[in-house]
Amino acid sequence: METVVSGIRSTGKLHLGNYYGALSNFVKMQNEYNCFFFIADLHSLTTHPTPHGLQGTVRQVIVEYLAAGIDPEKSTIYVQSDVPEVAELYLYMNMNAYLGELERATAFKDKVRSNPDNVNAGLLTYPVLMACDILIHHGTKVPVGKDQEQHLEMTRTFGNRFNRLYDVDYFKEAFAFSYSDKLVKVPGLAGQGKMGKSNGEADCIYLSDSETVIRKKVMRAVSDSGPTEMNQPKPEAIQNLFDLMKVVSTADTLQHFDELYNKCEIRYGDFKKQLAEDMVLATNDVRSRIEDISNDDAYIAKVAKMGAEKASESAHKTLKEVREIIGIKRFY
Ligand code: TYM
Repeated sequence: METVVSGIRSTGKLHLGNYYGALSNFVKMQNEYNCFFFIADLHSLTTHPTPHGLQGTVRQVIVEYLAAGIDPEKSTIYVQSDVPEVAELYLYMNMNAYLGELERATAFKDKVRSNPDNVNAGLLTYPVLMACDILIHHGTKVPVGKDQEQHLEMTRTFGNRFNRLYDVDYFKEAFAFSYSDKLVKVPGLAGQGKMGKSNGEADCIYLSDSETVIRKKVMRAVSDSGPTEMNQPKPEAIQNLFDLMKVVSTADTLQHFDELYNKCEIRYGDFKKQLAEDMVLATNDVRSRIEDISNDDAYIAKVAKMGAEKASESAHKTLKEVREIIGIKRFY
């Protein structure tokens, strides 16, 4: 059975981008594959969370994994830092990751541009740690959103380079995965680019947002005064709202509003109302489970412990083999 590995950083509440890009696929994949889903708390250290804040966000992601339907009996759910073998593998793999390729990574360049005062080495070597998350379990399928495609390419580069350097056929190639034909990019409500917390609260619909908050955010989403010509191409902000509708609504609903747009008969108030209702519907189940699970400390602890044990077993075996391949040996 193929092994699936993926993770989400502990940076706060999960939004529709995380859900449709990653989490919803996790839930489907657990019935078909050997799955490891983790909370990437080490990756989230690049932005220096407070100790209290970090603990809260790790817990939040565990809760939301469970609320979305990841079954801890079927999948291994664990916190990345509970498996320190990953950090050791990261040290070894850093020796074969080159400055030029790391500096060229799109996500790194974006971070440098958006936050030039915090260009730390952890940010630079982020793709190496991510590769290790996957390689440590010999993962071959990685459910992620479109923005992570390049990191998967780098994962293959690092694994293949290791194999060549030590003349072994050890690490397998991993590929980004989505059930749809293309990797998903969920746009945000702020009018530009993909949904993300760094674009501000108003850009994101969180899985834990109440119905009222969802409606408010959608009604305030960036739009314009409407089309002035028939069949006119949609400006980015409007296209984004249509793309969001494609994600949460039925094909009929999408087609209905598309036709109205093309006939210059669309009323954005109605359009947004429909979009908001479909988002409410899409998140109803997860939202109600978040509240229930969030109160169950004992269950959360049990899941984290069980996952740490299972993930450690797999990671320990890999690390032992990697040390042997590299030539790291105990002389006592
Ligand atoms: P993070 O926390 O930034 O994102 C987690 C997942 O959510 C997806 N995602 C989106 N997908 C579609 N549209 C969006 N607007 C959107 N926003 C976020 C991301 O593509 C991702 O799948 N680097 C990873 C975390 C990670 C990881 C790994 C993933 C660390 N190690 C190993 C897979 C395997 C990340 O992007 O986290």
